[in-house]
Amino acid sequence: MPSLNSNIGEVGRGFAAFLAPPPEGTVRFSVGQPNFRTPDVIVDCAKAALDEGQHGYTRSQGSEKICSAVATHLEKYDISTDANDVVITPGCKQALLYAMMSCLNPGDEVLLLAPAWPSYDGMLKLIGAVPIHVPVSRDNYHPRMDLLEAAVTPKTKAILINSPNNPTGAVYFPEEIAAITALAVEYDMWIFDDMIYSDLVYSNHTYVSPATFPGGIERTLTIGGWSKIWAMTGWRLGWITGPSAVMEAVKTCQASSASHVPTFLMDAGVVALGLAEEPKKFLEDFSERRDIFHALLEEIPGINAPKPEGAFYILADITETGMDDIEFATKALEIANVQVIPGSLMPGGEGLIRMSYGTDLEQIYEGCKRLKTWLQG
Ligand SMILES: Cc1ncc(COP(=O)(O)O)c(C=O)c1O
Repeated sequence: MPSLNSNIGEVGRGFAAFLAPPPEGTVRFSVGQPNFRTPDVIVDCAKAALDEGQHGYTRSQGSEKICSAVATHLEKYDISTDANDVVITPGCKQALLYAMMSCLNPGDEVLLLAPAWPSYDGMLKLIGAVPIHVPVSRDNYHPRMDLLEAAVTPKTKAILINSPNNPTGAVYFPEEIAAITALAVEYDMWIFDDMIYSDLVYSNHTYVSPATFPGGIERTLTIGGWSKIWAMTGWRLGWITGPSAVMEAVKTCQASSASHVPTFLMDAGVVALGLAEEPKKFLEDFSERRDIFHALLEEIPGINAPKPEGAFYILADITETGMDDIEFATKALEIANVQVIPGSLMPGGEGLIRMSYGTDLEQIYEGCKRLKTWLQG
């Protein structure tokens, strides 16, 4: 048999091993998706587009309407961009890959704040770039600028940030984003800003874009999508924008691969961006879940977690239980019937477990009760 791409062996499958459908009756704190239905008005728009016959190929970067809607949406975060510099992609994931393909060469190093969502590591390795995992503070999961600066080498080409963060739930302070931007300016790095959870914030400080700080706009690629805020994970709709020269490269990546996202989903994406009530209701629900979940975990011996500031994840330290995170996750499933993600699937996540509150309150109460009974016993 001919040989495979030599990068493939290095690439992991993220959380896949611990996301396998568990036996019936298991409480799943593992899945990173909201349990809400996509709002009907969005679904109806996609159905109408199919009925109207929007079945053919279309503009590769996305319709002018959806690109303009994204540019307008980003104004809310003081990100100023031109609709012509927006590309609509098959999910935020593909947008991240295009950013990496457009800006990096094999051997280039990219700083990740560890523990980082594992797909970043996989994508970088796929294209022959080198992920450098720089630990965040264990107290609050915020960046450690001293460690970030120490990790810079002549090969460092980019830094990837994600705030609100998966898996930590941290929302970085404006001064931290300013410091990261300044570091990127000093060492001439790209900034890949994965802002997919931008509106899911429960703390007093909000998502802030690096593009709003000096030197940021010309090196930031803003990458987001519809999956989390509008409960549209299966629709595979994302966006990317940045300086025109990079966006031309991104357009080449899309034209040479996916061509475009499904034609009949584009108007529905525009409808979603115009909604106010539904995302607000989702946010309120998440906020309530976060408060209750965190309070319940505080009552469980051996589990310690800072209160998440955003997204819908709690990253808990379980070292006091005497187990490592793989043993914890394995036994949690076998004994307590609760599925969680062990942190050591991500470099820098050893001794931690990630729990998602994409699930409903009833499951949160039940799962915590089971964990408490198991750990007290
Ligand atoms: C940090 C982060 N970025 C991107 C994605 C993927 O988004 P999409 O479904 O739009 O590809 C996820 C999904 O879990 C995520 O957690």
